[in-house]
Amino acid sequence: MKKWYAVIGDPISHSLSPFMHDTWFSEHGIDAAYIPIHVEPSQLEKSFEAMKMLGVSGFNITLPHKQSIVPFLGKLEESAMQMNAVNTVNFDGKHYIGSNTDGDGFVQSMLVHPVDKASKVLLIGAGGAARGIAFALKRAGFSDVTITNRTFRRAEELAAETGGSAITLKESEEQLAEFAILIQTTSVGLATGEALPISLEQVKAGTLVADIIYVPLETPFLKKAEEKNCVILNGVGMFVYQGAIAFEKWTGVQPDTEKMIKLITEKLGGTYVNN
Ligand code: ATR
Repeated sequence: MKKWYAVIGDPISHSLSPFMHDTWFSEHGIDAAYIPIHVEPSQLEKSFEAMKMLGVSGFNITLPHKQSIVPFLGKLEESAMQMNAVNTVNFDGKHYIGSNTDGDGFVQSMLVHPVDKASKVLLIGAGGAARGIAFALKRAGFSDVTITNRTFRRAEELAAETGGSAITLKESEEQLAEFAILIQTTSVGLATGEALPISLEQVKAGTLVADIIYVPLETPFLKKAEEKNCVILNGVGMFVYQGAIAFEKWTGVQPDTEKMIKLITEKLGGTYVNN
């Protein structure tokens, strides 16, 4: 029988996940569909019950439900426990298992570049997204991660939990040339005309500079990094890889991520550059 998968969120109409998963289902001849469902916060529990009743095989969860879904799930993988947030649910025939593929998705998208895991990494931000990436970097074997954040206390807390160190925004600007990898996880750059989360004046040419935002494809932060001759990485890769990890959990199939990055970049009006 045809299987069905979904993404729930509020809002949901702009999600690119249905396009991505339906493309992969069709590429692999899998008889399944992936449906966007608009779920308001007050309807989350009822909606989850209804989806279970209707036999959903798996689903993704996006804002604002990533944390509020947690109490309803029977089991959580380590990634979801560390973040106390879930973006993927998989049904194993008995339990609905929550995991969080965002952090690993980011790290996998970064590892497309030749990256030395002993490099000095600067993580900018200490919110939910940074948290997932900090744990995923640790799992992947990155040994030298420094966290900086506007609210320094949050950087210190996340560094203590993940075995990294914390510095202030000002210190990070002064010490920027020491880092080989910068990862921008704050919401600065989503709106046009915003300032950068930190100044990139001291960044070294050749530094790998990543931003997890993908709308716009090139944030002011990445534009500045490009002017400084850095290697830049936008958030499309993270989006595609977090989806690919979910797809593999559901189907056992590893989809073509590179081709999907190209398709989504073009859908967002950009030009795909394979570097
Ligand atoms: P998310 O789950 O998307 O990471 P979040 O948990 O609200 O969202 O975290 C947002 C991050 O962006 C935080 O690191 C936040 O810094 P604070 O901890 O000081 O709030 C950062 N951020 C948001 N607006 C910012 C701004 N204008 N300048 C610098 N950092 C900002």
